[in-house]
Amino acid sequence: MLQPLIWTGHSLRVLDQRRLPNETVWSEYRDAAGVAEAIRSMQVRGAPAIAAAAAYGLAMEAQRHAGARGDRLPEVLEAAARVLLASRPTAVNLRWAVERMQKAAAACPDPAALPQVLVAEAERIAAEDVAVNRRIGDLGAALFARPVQVLTHCNTGALATAGYGTALGVVRRLHELGRLRQVLVDETRPYWQGARLTAYELAAEGIPHILITDSMAGHFMQRGQVDAVLVGADRIARNGDVANKIGTYTLAVLCRHHGIPFYVAAPVSTFDLTIATGEDIPIEERDPAEVTHVYGRRITPEGTQAAHPAFDVTPHELVTAIITERGVIHHPQPESVRAVLAAEDKT
Ligand code: MRU
Repeated sequence: MLQPLIWTGHSLRVLDQRRLPNETVWSEYRDAAGVAEAIRSMQVRGAPAIAAAAAYGLAMEAQRHAGARGDRLPEVLEAAARVLLASRPTAVNLRWAVERMQKAAAACPDPAALPQVLVAEAERIAAEDVAVNRRIGDLGAALFARPVQVLTHCNTGALATAGYGTALGVVRRLHELGRLRQVLVDETRPYWQGARLTAYELAAEGIPHILITDSMAGHFMQRGQVDAVLVGADRIARNGDVANKIGTYTLAVLCRHHGIPFYVAAPVSTFDLTIATGEDIPIEERDPAEVTHVYGRRITPEGTQAAHPAFDVTPHELVTAIITERGVIHHPQPESVRAVLAAEDKT
């Protein structure tokens, strides 16, 4: 299976997703600042993948400063955490991983043991993510009794996680079970995660798919060619409102109009229980040049102004269910979100 990150024991190798599918190029990082730059510049992207990368970033800081006076380490880790947290604003998994690493550091009484403890914690975060995704795949696939044609947006596969994928993990599982007819892959303008990355992953796995432009989704729904939409998430509020790649909200509205189920697949680490509704989710604003230019080449008249919010928020009323590793939240709202998140973890 594809992997976006490889931990060597003292450095993190990052598959440069900006260059896929045409080139397979790996970069190697040895500190948190390098990892933060890899996240900021989209070499690694996808909420769970950037969380795992950040965890390794902190582990490398502990390794790098292993010889320093023990009392300096908390300060070093604090500064590294700040740099990592500032790399991208929307996916809350990043904060979740940084806080989990900070907790592991705080619980370690011996500064000399800190590098080892933090490396082990980062490895656990990555390994658990794959297990969580497999569980999401099982629970998600169980929602479909007969072979389906599903539509997906952005890239939520092995490349966006530590492995296997969330919404694309459900797709993978459906395919394994013989319950998938075909995937309609939104190209996902303006960053082309669907065209470049999802099509690449599905081709590598031999999963039948067809690429469509984002604006074709309604047409295929109207013709009865979409049985369900499956997407991932970057942050989910307490009431079940979902922030995900720009264009997701439009799909949810289209689904409601056509009576098509709209499913979100996301690990528990994507929930931000500190915020009540999606209104409070920070939306990353990216460079408008990513809209006006394609592969560095301008497609607009010179001087055209463009907007580039990288995510949007889908209100929980439009979500049929959120598939998590702890269970499926049908018709998400504050009570159902709370109940499933409180359930026992069976991964
Ligand atoms: O800007 P990106 O490519 O990091 O956005 C990714 C998404 O929106 C994904 O749907 C989300 O992170 C879930 S990935 C399992």
